[in-house]
Amino acid sequence: MSANANLLQVRGLHAQYGSTKVLHGIDFDVRQGGITTILGANGAGKTTTLRAVCGMVRTQGEILLAGDRIDGKATESIVRMGVAHVPDGRGTFLNFTVEENLRIGAYTRADRAQVQADYERMYNYFPRLRERRRQQAGTLSGGEQQMLAVSRALMLKPRLLLLDEPSFGLAPLIVQELFEIFRAINQADGISMLLVEQNAALALKLADHAYLLETGRVVLSGTAESIRSDESVRRSYLGY
Ligand SMILES: Nc1ncnc2c1ncn2[C@@H]1O[C@H](COP(=O)(O)OP(=O)(O)OP(=O)(O)O)[C@@H](O)[C@H]1O
Ligand SMILES: [Mg+2]
Repeated sequence: MSANANLLQVRGLHAQYGSTKVLHGIDFDVRQGGITTILGANGAGKTTTLRAVCGMVRTQGEILLAGDRIDGKATESIVRMGVAHVPDGRGTFLNFTVEENLRIGAYTRADRAQVQADYERMYNYFPRLRERRRQQAGTLSGGEQQMLAVSRALMLKPRLLLLDEPSFGLAPLIVQELFEIFRAINQADGISMLLVEQNAALALKLADHAYLLETGRVVLSGTAESIRSDESVRRSYLGY
């Protein structure tokens, strides 16, 4: 694969819940080692797009991971192919401890010694989780649960990390910290990311490419820099 090849390639993606059509033929890419962000108002279809990539909603169109079709596959198979999802509203197992959540995240992996080392890596990224390793996830603060949800997803050793509004409900300083860790993980481990965010300014700083979704259609796309300087994006999403 060449250096600027796409890890994820989506073409003509439609998605629907029952008879309600939500995505109307969208195209987007995530570069190998890159970070793509999808921006859009409430109800635009951002969460649905991530669900479509991991096989959680009925779709039509092509979704390719490293050149292989994954559309129509079961979520379980897509996970095994290296796609980890941090859903909106977190996604930790509330009745399990922090460390049990990390172990669950690694369930597809056979390299047990490396898994042990990766617990340590996660605790180094998020020292609060180390202090709370025996604590039930349900008793963590919102920010700590988000850290755990991200760590659990990383324990899969994914090729592609799907992040659904990771900044939601977090204090600005925690958000800053979390996004710095995303950058570090992207650079150190080469994990590609597809990031959905309400915080457009932050997302456009982290991402290399961006897509603007309006009621299930891509209305604008380009490098993060070009989207950031777009007049209408500035007014509607960046607020200056
Ligand atoms: N399970 C469902 N059944 C029926 N309609 C749904 C379902 N989930 C989402 N929708 C509808 O699909 C549309 C897109 O929803 P989606 O959650 O993808 O939006 P979003 O861009 O993530 O919005 P937000 O920024 O509020 O999270 C909305 O109109 C929503 O009502
Ligand atoms: Mg959403």
